[in-house]
Amino acid sequence: MCGIVGYVGKAPVVETVLEALRRLEYRGYDSAGIAVLNGRGIEVRKRVGKIEALVESIRRQPIRDGHIAVCHSRWATHGEPTEANAHPHTDCKQTLAVVHNGIVENYAELKSQLLAKGHRFRSQTDTEVIAHLVEEYAKREPLDCAFRHALKELRGSYAVCLLSKHEPHRLFGAKNSSPLIVGVGKREAFFASDVPAILGRTRRVVYLNDHEVVELSASGPRLTTLDGKRLHRKATTVAWDVAAARKEGYPHFMLKEIHEQPATIEQTLFNRLDAGKRRLTFDRRTKQFLDRLSPNEKFIVIACGTAYHAGLVGEYMLEECTRIPVDVDLASEFRYRGAQLGRDTTVIAITQSGETADTLASIQMAKAHGAKTLAICNVMGSSIARAVDAMLYTHAGPEIAVASTKAYTSQITALALLTLYLAKRRACLPPAQWRRLFDGLAKLPEAVQRALETERAVKAVAGEYARARNFYYLGRRYNYPSALEGALKLKEICPVIHAEGYAAGEMKHGPISLIRKGWPVMFVAPHSSVYEKVISNIEEVRARKGACIVIASEGDPAIKRHADSLITIPRTEEFFSPVVAAIPLQLFAYYVADANGCDIDQPPNLAKSVTVE
Ligand code: F6R
Repeated sequence: MCGIVGYVGKAPVVETVLEALRRLEYRGYDSAGIAVLNGRGIEVRKRVGKIEALVESIRRQPIRDGHIAVCHSRWATHGEPTEANAHPHTDCKQTLAVVHNGIVENYAELKSQLLAKGHRFRSQTDTEVIAHLVEEYAKREPLDCAFRHALKELRGSYAVCLLSKHEPHRLFGAKNSSPLIVGVGKREAFFASDVPAILGRTRRVVYLNDHEVVELSASGPRLTTLDGKRLHRKATTVAWDVAAARKEGYPHFMLKEIHEQPATIEQTLFNRLDAGKRRLTFDRRTKQFLDRLSPNEKFIVIACGTAYHAGLVGEYMLEECTRIPVDVDLASEFRYRGAQLGRDTTVIAITQSGETADTLASIQMAKAHGAKTLAICNVMGSSIARAVDAMLYTHAGPEIAVASTKAYTSQITALALLTLYLAKRRACLPPAQWRRLFDGLAKLPEAVQRALETERAVKAVAGEYARARNFYYLGRRYNYPSALEGALKLKEICPVIHAEGYAAGEMKHGPISLIRKGWPVMFVAPHSSVYEKVISNIEEVRARKGACIVIASEGDPAIKRHADSLITIPRTEEFFSPVVAAIPLQLFAYYVADANGCDIDQPPNLAKSVTVE
């Protein structure tokens, strides 16, 4: 939540930072602002709304350029999305400008101390205290010391960048539980909340740890601890290229990312699945971690939102094929439920961003209680990737649309790899069944490619139901999570619709009371062990004149008479059906939202990376 960019270098700074900020807009978009150090001192411009509103304002009334700047797109936590509350925030004399992502939990206390000392505040944000705190300390000490001193006073989370009128060649930055990276280019350097911001300028990145402080000049970063002790860290080169952060001709990132899924699943499998030798492997650290699990191991999967739904699919996979007991918890609940953790517990975090605050806090809690930790994560160097004992990267490339699509199917693919690896090691499956599942996994990109061929049919069905305002999504067993995910996708990107996902067998325990003529119910009913049961649930809805949209497997002639609208997907093992079914569910949400004129990539009130609890 919130996007931060800082820049020092020779390029025209306004254009450079706004371009980078645009690539972070998915992180928050209720207001945006920029502070540039130029011949007039620190010039600040802020606008409510999307970054385009800020860009338009600068187009109409240009800001004089410079070579050092910070900018920010906001997702409001403290204070409404107004111009006054938009970042950057300045000190009393406008000699400092601060952008911040996170929450300063003790801001009220700090603010009253600063007010007592005569500081004048202009906003209701927690962030403004940082500017005034630094100003206060800078009365007595050099700016770098004042910055460190101020950081030590903050409780809560922060990724913060500081620009000073008195430091025309250096920015200052630091992080604690909120993401901030450094991009190192040719005689230029960036701060950014995430890698896509800097792709196109550089792929050399320095990942920061919590409580590290950076002085950033055009020649690169100088890292220290909060106590000023020098740290040394080399830049790593990220594999993502700039095309991944552009729409490449698609009207929305979401549609582009839906179409990328055959390739992204392939990437998740790459170097891990050897189809010729029918062998699975992982990098050395992860393999060692898995090979050392106890025979009595228990897994607790923690995640939020879409990643949680992937975790639910993983529960079915792991319990069916490895007999390891699995609990799946929302990270925001796990932290407070007093779970029994011990040496034989592995807590598995699933997260696209690797920065979700509740997931990160759950991992830290699990470690503190002596559990082992593993993460399935998309972003290299993210906070969660660095916190866990072992990693399974999904390698799906940057996901820019707020609604998660390719990350979800890659997470399930990673869970399938994990399941089949452990099933083989523990000899839990009959060899023929293991081989069938292995072959199915190897062919998954192909099945997903074929599922994308449903696009035209899905678009037509979406057109038929686009005016409905309530939907149920139902499925059973492996496709119960598909129902939850399908409903989440729709309500997330089409906020004029309410959609609810249920286990199909739960309908008669309450929700069925709402069904009336024409009420749309999306059934995820591929070929499976519970197929007949789902058919009975379809008939229960039809008996009440609900309209059944059914996602079924190809080669199922009987399904036609149960469906008002039918979408057919390639037939796979039940084990893989949530991945293949995800494609028409995502496309359906996309086309219904499009028909309703919704802002698909940036739905209201949402932000991609939820770095506050
Ligand atoms: C939904 C969506 C969110 C995320 C959730 C977890 O489309 O994107 O529900 O899945 O915020 O985020 P990560 O995976 O980054 O931890």
